[in-house]
Amino acid sequence: MKRRAGSFNGNGSGKRILVAGGAGFIGSHLCDRLLESGHKVICVDNLLTGNEQNIRPLVNHPHFRFLKQDVCELGPVDEPLDQVYNLACAASPSKYQADPVHTMMTCIRGTSNLLALAENKKAAFVQASTSEVYGDPTEHPQRESYLGNVNCTGPRACYDEGKRAAETLCFDMRRLGRVDARVARIFNTYGPRMQPDDGRIVSNLIVQALTGEPLTIYGSGEQTRSFCHVADLIRGLTALMNVLSAPSGPVNLGNPGEFTINELAQMVLELVITDSTIKHMPLPIDDPRRRRPDITLARRLLNWQPQKPLKEGLAETVDWFAAFLHRSDTPRSALPRRRADQKLIGPPQRLSAGA
Ligand SMILES: NC(=O)c1ccc[n+]([C@@H]2O[C@H](COP(=O)([O-])OP(=O)(O)OC[C@H]3O[C@@H](n4cnc5c(N)ncnc54)[C@H](O)[C@@H]3O)[C@@H](O)[C@H]2O)c1
Repeated sequence: MKRRAGSFNGNGSGKRILVAGGAGFIGSHLCDRLLESGHKVICVDNLLTGNEQNIRPLVNHPHFRFLKQDVCELGPVDEPLDQVYNLACAASPSKYQADPVHTMMTCIRGTSNLLALAENKKAAFVQASTSEVYGDPTEHPQRESYLGNVNCTGPRACYDEGKRAAETLCFDMRRLGRVDARVARIFNTYGPRMQPDDGRIVSNLIVQALTGEPLTIYGSGEQTRSFCHVADLIRGLTALMNVLSAPSGPVNLGNPGEFTINELAQMVLELVITDSTIKHMPLPIDDPRRRRPDITLARRLLNWQPQKPLKEGLAETVDWFAAFLHRSDTPRSALPRRRADQKLIGPPQRLSAGA
């Protein structure tokens, strides 16, 4: 597995990096971070769930290029590459279930195409996998060695099994010595630029509180999740890409703090002045009851751990959504009010991920 040496700026520091899914929530923060660090970025995205707004500030950057393409039909890339990140895939259940066959194909054909590109360019590869590969876990917290409890025929399988198959492709290419592939198992990540309508728990609760709608909690609300701020995650992804001795297996990236959904809803209600009440709905099929990463491996290999406390990250995300809703065509009567005792973080900003 020879890796390409050299740099586009001649001093060894500027790498040429392709980010598939770079117009999405996490991908756009990654593009920001890579450009800030002096690299050249090609963003490939079909804008299925991504948003051009996320990358609009980057389009005139001399080291940024956007290719609107589906990774299932990836065209040739006419310049050298040192690194490829694969984040292309709808990530929220409502979006990935809307066209489940395309989701599965994105995971398999898309990942296969990107691995072939990385092989051809001798580029290192990071795959954005997911804690969903653990399914509804019977082991808690989840270590990388846990093989998971996934239903391969249910409505979530297009994503869960697609991501598992994508991991298989990565590790086969690695064992065959064809690609220096690394796999991050990402746990629930939140922050500015989440889509307001994609049904993910953090964005759901915040938007509902800001617009005075009832906060929907599925099931009793006693199921748990862990929440990692996107800036922390970006530090983890870049550390995994750049660590000299590549791990031979997947690496969990997430925040080991564990909260019930009821606790999360309470924190949101403390941050927003709202008339919202709580509304309970039936638990979706195959919804995991507990989720918490064991990040011992990431701590040891990457010297990485999340830094942003949930309350602080949530306040920042509430402010981002408040500004977003003010800009959009939300009716004025439904516009958010904020608690006077909460510090305002200001209008949406580009994050400094500190990686
Ligand atoms: N956000 C999380 O909590 C989380 C957790 C675990 C794993 N992940 C993984 O991280 C990655 C990014 O997630 P996100 O939250 O930013 O989601 P997102 O939906 O905001 O981003 C995904 C991006 O991929 C693009 N895309 C989808 N299918 C594509 C295709 N066939 N060809 C080209 N582009 C395509 C979308 O348009 C979008 O811009 C995903 O692979 C997801 O599985 C995210």
